[in-house]
Amino acid sequence: MALIEINDIHKEYVTYKQEKGFLNTFKGFFYREKQIKEAVKGISFQIEKGEMVGYIGPNGAGKSTTLKILSGILTPTSGEAHIAGIVPYQNRKQHAKKIGVVFGQRTQLWWDLPVIESFELMRYVYRIDEKTYRENMEIFTDLLELDQFSSRPVRQLSLGQRMRADIALSLLHNPDILFLDEPTIGLDVVAKQKIREFIKQINLKRQVTVILTTHDMGDIESLCNRVILIDDGLVQFDGEIEKFRHTYGKERCLVVETKEPEDIDRLVLDHGQITKREGNRIWIHFDRDQVSPTQLIPHITSQIEVVDLTIEEPSIEGIVSRVYQDKTKN
Ligand SMILES: Nc1ncnc2c1ncn2[C@@H]1O[C@H](COP(=O)(O)OP(=O)(O)OP(=O)(O)O)[C@@H](O)[C@H]1O
Ligand SMILES: [Mg+2]
Repeated sequence: MALIEINDIHKEYVTYKQEKGFLNTFKGFFYREKQIKEAVKGISFQIEKGEMVGYIGPNGAGKSTTLKILSGILTPTSGEAHIAGIVPYQNRKQHAKKIGVVFGQRTQLWWDLPVIESFELMRYVYRIDEKTYRENMEIFTDLLELDQFSSRPVRQLSLGQRMRADIALSLLHNPDILFLDEPTIGLDVVAKQKIREFIKQINLKRQVTVILTTHDMGDIESLCNRVILIDDGLVQFDGEIEKFRHTYGKERCLVVETKEPEDIDRLVLDHGQITKREGNRIWIHFDRDQVSPTQLIPHITSQIEVVDLTIEEPSIEGIVSRVYQDKTKN
């Protein structure tokens, strides 16, 4: 049995529509329209000990929902999950000892307390023995330079410092598995680099199994040997990073700024696809093997008036929407 096994997991969220306006609020006491959102529509995968897997997909794909199920915060509507033989949402306490969890959008640190006190608290709650605590604090301080800010209250930290503290905190009890949900969100390149290096070390030296969710292809490229791509609650790709790169890595993205937003409606492309549009800017994803920028650009400028052009590394969103469009074409 693999360390992490999930089998045909579904998750439905039930919400109630709240209509605006006084009368509707009043009506809402008696009747609110029920809405069901199926966020995860049958996801299965297996992950072996020591793997570092990138769990990627566009906004709303169901990534955080999956991670919440794996960390025991949510119970799936159907399907099953086993992590080291434990069903996470049925045995949360036992499971919590084996996992570390970081949700980049939220902190597990106490906002008003000095960082070090959150660590002390963690030590107490998880009954971490003196030796382990001391060793870990030494290593984490060394790699993440926690001493720069450990006596400061969390609310005074920069985002990068807070993230470093959060990741260290999640590993204090020597978990076997680490779930990272957007650990580099909002960070600058240097801060990202520090965190990537640390995660790499932890995986290498301690064989910690890592599932990492991110919108940053750079995180994936530098850390993961495998990616699972999900879209609309379903797995679209699961395999080695080389294969992923081979399949989708020929993507490039051209950002075009037109003089008038209406010009965009007139544009006809032989190659590539418009994957995003914002005002008078569009993002065109294209396959390097099919068309080169030197062919694509004149093709565009001959049709519409262009103010600015830039080539970007393809975003995961762009890749995913191309995958999706290709699928609907077939
Ligand atoms: N508590 C909730 N109640 C109702 N719907 C929810 C809830 N949490 C998430 N959803 C919906 O479920 C879908 C999947 O959400 P999820 O947070 O898992 O996506 P995600 O892949 O993590 O996206 P992002 O990249 O934006 O973080 C979305 O449509 C979202 O709006
Ligand atoms: Mg999310």
